Amino acid sequence: MNKRFTVTSFLEAKKKNEKITMLTAYDYSTAKLIDEAGIESILVGDSLGMVVLGYESTLEVTVEDIIHHCKAVARGAKNALIVGDMPFLSYHINIEETVRNAGRIIQEGKAHAIKLEGGVEVVDKVKAITNAQIPVMGHLGLTPQSINIFGGFKVQGKSEEQAKKIINDAIELEKAGAFAIVLEGIPAKLAQIITEKITIPTIGIGAGTGCDGQVLVTNDMLGMFSDFTPKFVKKYANLKETIVSATKEYIREVKVIEFPAKEHTFSMNEDILKKLY
Ligand code: KIV
Repeated sequence: MNKRFTVTSFLEAKKKNEKITMLTAYDYSTAKLIDEAGIESILVGDSLGMVVLGYESTLEVTVEDIIHHCKAVARGAKNALIVGDMPFLSYHINIEETVRNAGRIIQEGKAHAIKLEGGVEVVDKVKAITNAQIPVMGHLGLTPQSINIFGGFKVQGKSEEQAKKIINDAIELEKAGAFAIVLEGIPAKLAQIITEKITIPTIGIGAGTGCDGQVLVTNDMLGMFSDFTPKFVKKYANLKETIVSATKEYIREVKVIEFPAKEHTFSMNEDILKKLY
């Protein structure tokens, strides 16, 4: 029988010192495969904008996009906890819009939790969403929705001031009710300190092994997205090579009439056939 990973499982894993595994997915087939492989949580991240929709950043992704892709992932994933990302501007205007958008990702998208970026500046939103009984995952460090403030995709938390702010942000997110926090693109030692200071799990991406779990963008780790590869990505497969060479072979076989072969072709009764000429 399927046993769904839940927000409680996240907290139990931290207590038991067991690492939590998370990957992104945006479609039914991928979600089904990584779920069957045993992934514990699937993030329908706004990285969708870059790796699936071909935008230059995550800033163009909408709530509708996230809901659309969450629905597909929810149809494929039977065991993983599904987290839907709140896109840029979906939680910045006011509390009412924030809770409504979070609620839509749960109610229409069938996600089990939402994720949003930011620290003390979003704790009022985190409290309001949690009060609506929606679990919230925080996201600190190199938060991609802030690239225009950061001046690009730059590692965060290297200065004392930045590091102290990120530590304080993590503490405040926990107090506001977040059940976990993604730590992205920060020094490993800083991530370790944060992980020790809070009781909710930290999920690292470019934040070292000291976090309570790890997340990667699936299209990066499978080697499908080649526009750029951040230093923290490990490619566990090279699907780009597989896809390109399979496509080339398909083109060749079609051109030389090798495909479709007999086993891919339907036959019909010869007597009926004769009447058709
Ligand atoms: O959108 C995303 O995929 C993310 C992960 C990189 C954590 O936020």
